[in-house]
Amino acid sequence: MFGAETLDHVGIPVRDLERSEKFYQETLGLAFFTRRKNADGSPRHTYVLAGENIIGLNLPGIQVPASPSGAPRYGIAVDSEDSFEETVKRIRQSGVPCEAVEQHGPDSPFVRSFCFDDPDDNHLEICLRRDGPKGIHLSHVVFETADLGCSNHFYSQALGLEPLAEERSEQFFRFRNRQILGLKKVAALSDRTKKHGRAVHVAFNVTQEDFDRMVALITELKGRSLGDHRSEDGLRPPGERSLYFFDPDTNYLQITAHGEENWDMLSDEEKWRRIVENRKKLGKGISSFDAGKKIGG
Ligand SMILES: [Fe+2]
Repeated sequence: MFGAETLDHVGIPVRDLERSEKFYQETLGLAFFTRRKNADGSPRHTYVLAGENIIGLNLPGIQVPASPSGAPRYGIAVDSEDSFEETVKRIRQSGVPCEAVEQHGPDSPFVRSFCFDDPDDNHLEICLRRDGPKGIHLSHVVFETADLGCSNHFYSQALGLEPLAEERSEQFFRFRNRQILGLKKVAALSDRTKKHGRAVHVAFNVTQEDFDRMVALITELKGRSLGDHRSEDGLRPPGERSLYFFDPDTNYLQITAHGEENWDMLSDEEKWRRIVENRKKLGKGISSFDAGKKIGG
């Protein structure tokens, strides 16, 4: 059956890495994974884990107000009623903007959910899922769309996601493993959708069998291919194929079909050595963002 298998990782724009590390670990209760550096050794982003899913806290972030629509929004599922209550309490105590806890009906994929913002005005949500993968995990992402018909078609046909019921004026779709992608119809896209921030993207895993057909459908159904810069930089192991692309509303996405090996966690030194070497061959250098010169300046 054709269709994206899982929601794998997300990058979120943040402006103060220490503040975000503290919030995501101490308040949300996520596990620290690793800190990554720019070519000059300055901080680039921190990865925290929601179970097996990486959440990237990406500098330099963006200076725009919270989106009025409630999207883009990133949802994290916790694994028990107790954990949900304790996390809600810690989030409320932290002083970030919060909504009320919501109880969902028996047909919803959610039992309870709680929306709030992180210290950089990113919309987040924690939830207890009625179904879905076990344990703490990235439960869902919700994007804005200015043309629901077009993006409906894009996510159901090009990405092969299964449409679910609409909830809170958001159209939900299901990945093969029951993680969820939602679409919120808006009259105009917010600056949070339009200004991404460096490396702020949402990544899905797909099978090798589906990859080529999906790439063709993405451009056919009004997405825009951005190629695979990691492959050009010599950072893909043999057999791994990936594409970065925009959906019809310029939400920045990635699909990856993994091979046998995984090189995602090459050391920073080795990663930058390969990037500089490969770009030299192409007659290119690295951007000032990658070098680190613009960070913190
Ligand atoms: Fe990625």
